[in-house]
Amino acid sequence: KKEKLELIAQRIRPFQDFPSKGILFRDICPILKDPEALTAVTDLFEEHVRQTYPAVELVVGLDARGFLFGPLLAQRLGVGFALVRKKGKLPGPTSSVAYSLEYGKAEVEIQEDGVLPGQKVVLIDDLLATGGTLYATCELMKRQKADVLGCLVVIELLDLKGAERIGSTPTFSLVQY
Ligand code: PRP
Ligand code: HPA
Repeated sequence: KKEKLELIAQRIRPFQDFPSKGILFRDICPILKDPEALTAVTDLFEEHVRQTYPAVELVVGLDARGFLFGPLLAQRLGVGFALVRKKGKLPGPTSSVAYSLEYGKAEVEIQEDGVLPGQKVVLIDDLLATGGTLYATCELMKRQKADVLGCLVVIELLDLKGAERIGSTPTFSLVQY
């Protein structure tokens, strides 16, 4: 387990001043290029969910990098995968929640039949920063009457206190900065 976490940490690449000055961007692309590292991520998420949330019924991935890790985990767990997208990308009846970003606003959206009332879900994304995106997604799940068991992220930026923003829903991260 320690070796897996070390390998994952080695495959996260920092970029100074991206996408804007003063931001240290943590790039997960090297994880995806290394099958051993990607397997390690999936292994550790699977182990955590099996131990902590054995009743899980659906993995819900966040746009866009939650889509890279979510389906791999869902397949391991033998459950389905649903997408939460930035507004305007999904056809048919949808439900959406607006949230504020560092500058401006965004909206997360899901198809009305994407998650069912009472369904036990885990949310997954690549990175937790301020927690705005995961918080809005938790609100969206509440509106759909789904039961969010927990949130999974590869990377957590501790200074930004995202886990506090998400509140009562537990967060599990593999690498912390
Ligand atoms: C990043 C990241 C998370 C979110 C975290 O996505 O992948 O989804 O920001 O930030 P927060 O905790 O402050 O909400 P981004 O908004 O860059 O969108 P993208 O995935 O479409 O690139
Ligand atoms: N990397 C990727 N996505 C992000 C970051 C980061 O460092 N900060 C906020 N969203």
